[in-house]
Amino acid sequence: MQSPLSADVTIREVVESHPGSDRVFGAHGLPCAGCHVSTRETIRQGAAVHSLDLDALMSDLQRYIADGTVPPARAKPAHDHATVPPPAKTRKPGIKHVVAIMSGKGGVGKSLVTGLLAVALRRLGYEVGVLDADITGPSMAKIFGITARPYQGEDKKPHPPASRSGIQVMSMNLILDSDSQAVIWRGPMVSNAIRQFYNDLEWGALDYLLIDLPPGTSDAPLTVLQALPVDGVVMVSTPQGLATMIVSKALKFAKQLHVPVIGLVENMSYFTDHETGKRFELFGASKGVQLVVESGAPLLAQLPIDPALTQLCDDGRIEEYEAPDYTVLAKNFANVMPTAAAAGVGD
Ligand SMILES: Nc1ncnc2c1ncn2[C@@H]1O[C@H](COP(=O)(O)OP(=O)(O)O)[C@@H](O)[C@H]1O
Ligand SMILES: [Mg+2]
Repeated sequence: MQSPLSADVTIREVVESHPGSDRVFGAHGLPCAGCHVSTRETIRQGAAVHSLDLDALMSDLQRYIADGTVPPARAKPAHDHATVPPPAKTRKPGIKHVVAIMSGKGGVGKSLVTGLLAVALRRLGYEVGVLDADITGPSMAKIFGITARPYQGEDKKPHPPASRSGIQVMSMNLILDSDSQAVIWRGPMVSNAIRQFYNDLEWGALDYLLIDLPPGTSDAPLTVLQALPVDGVVMVSTPQGLATMIVSKALKFAKQLHVPVIGLVENMSYFTDHETGKRFELFGASKGVQLVVESGAPLLAQLPIDPALTQLCDDGRIEEYEAPDYTVLAKNFANVMPTAAAAGVGD
C-alpha cells in the first residue's frame, strides 16, 4: 500500500517521484509544477500562495498516485488570488485578538519584542497570553523564567503556566524533559504542535494572544497565518540592510496570506552611551521610513540596544525591565489594533 502523501513535501519531489502528476497540479491552477519555483515550494505553500483548495489538491494527488486519474481542470477563481477571501478559521471563544510577531530573519530580537510587548500590555491591565511557535528554537519560557509545566485545571483541561505578572506562556521547553533537548522534527509535526498549543490548551479569557514565530517564511509561520485566526502581524526588523531586504519578503508573505501587517518595530535602532548621552546608530541609519512606505503599516517603535535588557532576558526576569520606549510600543500597538479601544482595558 502507498503511504499517504504529505502536504509538506516539495512539488518538485512529487513530480519527480510520480511522473505526470504535474497535470494534477495544472488542473488545480498550478501550472508552474515543473518550473524552478517548485524546487523549494511545498504543496502546502504552493496552494497557499495560489489560493488553492489544499484538501482537494491532496486528494486528487493521492488518487493520481493510486490509479493515474487526472482530474478535469477546475474553474479559475473569478478574481486574482490577492483578492480571494481567506478561508474561514475557527476562533476560540474568549480570545479577543491574536497577533503574530514575525521577522524575515533570526536574531533581530523578535522573541524579545514579543516578550516585552506582552509585559507592557500586561502593565496596561490587559489579559495576555504568549504562544511560542518557535518549536525547534523556543525561548519564551526562558525569558520569563518559567519552568512549570502546563497543568490540569479543575475543569480537567490543560492550562498553560503563568508568569509572575500573570502572562500565560506556552513553549516547547515546558514539555521537554530538559532545556537543552533538541527538537528534530519535520514540518508537519511542527505544524501539529502549534495547532495543539492553540486549540487544545485552555487559555481562558485573553485580550491578546501574542504568537512568537520562528524567523522567515517556513512551515511554522505558514501554519500560524493559515490555520489560526490571526488578526494581524507585527513585523520586527533592524536597520541592517540585509534584515530590511528580508523583511520585505516577509511582508509579501503576509500579504499573500491575507493577514494585515498592523505595525512595524525597528529593534536595535541605536545605543545611548549613558555617560555622555550620545546616541550611536550601530547598525546604520534607520530604515523605518522605507519600511513604512513599503508596507503601508505604522512604525510602532524604534527600540534601543540595552545590555541590561539582554541580561534580564538571560536571567528569566524580563518582567523587571523598565524603559519608556516599551510603554510607547504597547500604547501604539493597542491604538492600531482594530477593536482594541472598543474592547477596553481588562474587560
Ligand atoms: N534591543 C535589544 N537590546 C539588548 N539585547 C537585545 C535587544 N534585542 C535583542 N537582544 C538580544 O539579542 C538576542 C537575540 O534576540 P531574540 O529576541 O532571541 O531574536 P529572534 O527571536 O529574532 O531570533 C537575545 O539574546 C536578546 O536578548
Ligand atoms: Mg526567537
